[in-house]
Amino acid sequence: MRILAIETSCDETAAALVEASDGLKNPKFRVLKNIVSSQIETHRPYGGVVPLLAKREHIRNLPIVLKQVQGKSKNEKVKIDDVDIVAVTVGPGLEPALLVGIEFAKHLAKKLKKKLVGANHLEGHLYSFLLTQESKKEKGERRKLEFPAIGLIVSGGHTILLLMNKLESWKKIGETRDDAVGEAFDKVARMLGLPYPGGPEIERLAKTGNPHAIEFPRPMIHHKNFDFSFAGLKTAVYYETRNKKFTRKQKADLAASFQEAAVDVLARKTMRAVEAFGAKSVILAGGVAANKALRTRIGKECKKLGKSFFVSDFKYSGDNASMIAAATYINLLKKKAYHVKMQANLNL
Ligand code: KG4
Ligand code: ZN
Repeated sequence: MRILAIETSCDETAAALVEASDGLKNPKFRVLKNIVSSQIETHRPYGGVVPLLAKREHIRNLPIVLKQVQGKSKNEKVKIDDVDIVAVTVGPGLEPALLVGIEFAKHLAKKLKKKLVGANHLEGHLYSFLLTQESKKEKGERRKLEFPAIGLIVSGGHTILLLMNKLESWKKIGETRDDAVGEAFDKVARMLGLPYPGGPEIERLAKTGNPHAIEFPRPMIHHKNFDFSFAGLKTAVYYETRNKKFTRKQKADLAASFQEAAVDVLARKTMRAVEAFGAKSVILAGGVAANKALRTRIGKECKKLGKSFFVSDFKYSGDNASMIAAATYINLLKKKAYHVKMQANLNL
C-alpha cells in the first residue's frame, strides 16, 4: 500500500510517500520520499512559533514539498498518481497551521481521486520508530518488539507515558500536569539567551558543562503515579539565572544541570513503569527523543534490565510526514479512522 501523507501541525511543512506492507504483526515501511521544509528561520526572531506566520509559510511551502515528493528516488521514478490513499494530520497542533494542511490534502485527494483519511500527530510520533526498524538492528542487543511495552512520547507540546499491550492498543498511564518537557527546554534556552528551538541548543551547550554543578529539583520523581511536572524545574532555573551575568562555562553548567534533571525524571519514571507493568520493551518518541543524553540513558537502563529499546531515527524524531503515513497504516489495519476535520486538542 502506498500512502501519501501531509503534515503541517506546527512549524514544519512536510510531505512523504511511504510504502507499507505485512500487516499488524510485523509492519514494514519503505520511505520513498520524506520531505520536510523547516520554518525555524522565520520564527526565530520571535523566539517561538507564530501561528499566523506558520500558516503563511505552509501555504507557500506545501506545493513545493509536494513537487519534491515526486521525482527520482533510488533510481525509481516516484509518481503520486498511483498512491492508494492520502493522509493528513488533523491534530493536535496549531489551528491555522492544521487547517492549511487539511485544505491542501482535500484538494489533492480530489485531484488524485483517492480516499483521504485523518491522522493523529501523536500516533505518528509513537510509530516513527517503525520507519527504520530494519536498518537499526544493533549487534548483540535485544531488539525484539515484545509486549507489554512502555511508550514515552516527548515533544514540544506533550509528555506522555503509555502502556501498550499490542502495537495498536494502549492506555495512557501518565502525562505532564503543566509544561511539556520540550517546552521546558525551549523556555530554559530563552533564559540562557539561546535561540529557538531551544532543545538542540541546550543539548549542544550541555556537552561542555558539568551536569552536577547545580542540583536542580526533579519534580514528582518520588510520586507513585506516572505523571510529570516541569514547571517547577523551569522556575528553579529562572531563579538561578535571574538578573545574573554568566561566563560561558557557567552557562554550560546550567544547561547541563537542567538537562540532567529533565532526563533523570523522564528515565526514572519510564523505568519505574517498566517494572510496575512487567514491560518487555520501551519505545521513545517525539522531538525531544533526538536528545542524545535521553536516548543514551534510557537505552542503557533498558540494556541493564534486559529490555528491548526502540527509538525513532534522528531523521524521524522531529515532525515529519513519514510518521503520519506509518500511523495511517496501523489505523487502517485496526479499522480506526480520524475524521478529516481539524482537531487542535486531539490527544491519545
Ligand atoms: O515533536 P516536535 O518536533 O514537535 C512537537 O510535536 O511539539 O518537538 C519539538 C520539541 C521542541 O520543544 C524542541 O526544542 C525539542 O523538541 N527538541 C529537543 C531536541 N531536539 C528537539 N529537546 C531536547 N534535545 C534535543 N536534541
Ligand atoms: Zn511533533
